[in-house]
This record gives sequence, C-alpha cells and structure tokens, in this order.
Amino acid sequence: MRIAEFALERYFARWEFAVRHLLCASDVEGWPMADLLALADPETAALWAGLRLGYSEAPGHPLLRAEIAGLYDTLGPDDVLVFAGAEEAIFCLSNVLLGPGDHAVVTWPGYQSLYEVGRATGADVTLHVLHEGDGWDLDPARLIAALRPETRLVVINAPHNPTGMLPTHAEWARLTGELADRGIHLLADEVYRFLEFDEADRLRAGADAFDRGVSLGVMSKSFAMAGLRIGWLATRDRDLLARCAAFKDYTTICSSAPSEILALIGLRARDTVLARSRRIVGDNLVHLDRFVDAHADRWSWFRPRGGSIGFARLLDDEPSESFAARLVEAEGVLLLPGSVIGHDGNHVRIGFGREDLPEALAGLERFLDRSPVGAAGR
Ligand SMILES: Cc1ncc(COP(=O)(O)O)c(C=O)c1O
Repeated sequence: MRIAEFALERYFARWEFAVRHLLCASDVEGWPMADLLALADPETAALWAGLRLGYSEAPGHPLLRAEIAGLYDTLGPDDVLVFAGAEEAIFCLSNVLLGPGDHAVVTWPGYQSLYEVGRATGADVTLHVLHEGDGWDLDPARLIAALRPETRLVVINAPHNPTGMLPTHAEWARLTGELADRGIHLLADEVYRFLEFDEADRLRAGADAFDRGVSLGVMSKSFAMAGLRIGWLATRDRDLLARCAAFKDYTTICSSAPSEILALIGLRARDTVLARSRRIVGDNLVHLDRFVDAHADRWSWFRPRGGSIGFARLLDDEPSESFAARLVEAEGVLLLPGSVIGHDGNHVRIGFGREDLPEALAGLERFLDRSPVGAAGR
C-alpha cells in the first residue's frame, strides 16, 4: 500500500512533546490513572486486580462491548467491534468497503485518514468541502448530488474536527434517509459525541439511524482517555463487522488487555467522566469567547457547536504558518496552521480541551500585544 504522509500527525510528532502549551490538541485533558481506578465498581476492580496479560478476545472484551452498546439505542454487544483507537477502525473499515472502481464522499477539511485511506485503496474520493461563508455548515443537497451508482461510503464527522460543525436534526434525517434508500454505508465519525454544547443538538447515532449506518467512537476525545488507544465500530450490519474483524487480524488482532479494563471502568462511570470533560470544555469556551471579543480586529471564528476544537481565522496579513512558528518560538504555545491540513484560508485550529488553556491564551495575548498589526514579520 502506498499512502500519503499524515501531515497533521507528523506535525504533532514534531511538536506535541516539545512545547509548553498545546493550544491545538483535539483531545480532552487525559484522566490521571489513579483517579480513574478510584471509579471502579467491585466487578471492574476485581477484573483489574486479577488481570492476566495474555491475548484478549479478538472482537473486544464482552463486558466492554456490552458497555459500548449501551451508548446506542438499538444495539447489542455483538454489534460492536473494538479497535486500537478510532484510527485503526478507520483503516480497517475503509479497506473493507473501498477499492478500485468504488467511490466515497468525505467531509473536508477534516481528519486526513478519513479520506486518505480510501484513496490509498484505489477508490475515487470526492471531498464534500465545508465553506466558512456558509458557517461551515454541511450542505445535504450538494452532498446527495455527489452520490453515484458506485458510491459505497459516505463519511461525516460531527461534531466536526476542525470546525465544530454539527448538522441539524432535519439535515441528519434527510441524509441518513437518502443513504438508507440507496443502500450506501455511512461512517459517522462520532468521536466528539457527548460534547455538544446544547444537549438537544445531539444527533441520533449513525448506527441507530439505519442498518448500514456505522458509528465510530473512541475513548480519546469526550471520554478523555487517549492513552488507552481504545476505539470501536458499532453497527447493525453484522456482515460488515465480520469483514472488519477478519481485516483486523492483519493489524492488531486484539486490543491491549489493560486498556480494555480501564475503558470499561471509564464507560461505566461515564456520567462522571463526561461531566468532567464538559466542565473543562465549557470553562475554556468562556475564555475563548472573551479572547475573540477582545481581538475581533485580528481573529474571527464561527463558534463551534460541539467538540473540543474550532477553526479560527487570523485576519492579519501574515500567513498563519509564520504566525504559529513565531508564537511557538516566543511563548512555547502551539497552534495548528490550517495549511497543515491542506486548507488555505489563513486559519488555525484551536483546541480547548486542555486544562492549561488560560495560560496558553495568556501566552498568545502577550505575543499579540508585542506584535501589533503592521509590526508582524510579513
Ligand atoms: C475526527 C477524528 N476521527 C478520528 C480520530 C482518531 O482518534 P484516535 O487518535 O483516538 O484513534 C481523530 C483524532 O484526532 C479525529 O479528530
């Protein structure tokens, strides 16, 4: 397989552990291990204490699959397949569903593997481009018009990385209804699900919407446990799940046994876990709202509707790459220029899931004060 470099992951490989403040991370501040273990119930505490480090069950620990199934309205444990993060699930599903002669439609800008793996299979991938002028909104009519007889897969990530876009319930119903009628699979990348700022906006999960709807979930984002590397696909399409399971024999075979138990503890305590994530994200948004108001002459953004990231536009003439390079050098604060994800609109991705956001923003503000418009290195 020949595949293009994953530019965003290469950027993080260079910077993530070399800077003081990550102001562009997509995950929520990771749980301290001791705090997570303190949430264990008697059953999971015993599983943890008695854990043997052998291979684990290939589809995922039965209790973990049951807990994941509980996140959906219409699924049981056998409708769930556990992976090493969302990333492995994307890789397996794209390879199983796509190949030469097939077509896929994928929202863009976005997380690169959602379209790059499909391209690497030889499939033709149409990007459904979100425009800032439309408030980054999905355009169901335009997306439906892009479907072809050979379209096998539509990929929609909502809440969306990097814009925080979330379709309305009516748009979602129209899209899922159309895909159901045409027998096309949907990969609903729901890794930021449960972080909708208004709970009433939470969409029906892709897997609940129709038989060929596939929900992608992970412990990394809303559940704030990226280090577990536990993700999953959930769908009522058992045949598809079986094909993904067979493909996974060539990637990881089965999941990390300790991570499965830790994920189980986290999901059983999900009310506590999600309340913490929502508190972090909510507090940070207050700081960001104030920042954008105070610097409206230099920054603009469509406030995200969910998730832990937004896509803000730098209004200065300076390209966002050189702004970000000067900022990290001066203050140790990392932003992600839009160009890293192939976008040329002078935007940066801002992540607001980390607890040090107030200090990171203070560094950014000091930097802005020191380089007023006109004084920037153009
Ligand atoms: C939209 C989206 N999907 C999938 C992933 C992959 O998640 P993980 O790294 O936990 O496998 C990410 C990570 O940033 C993401 O933003």
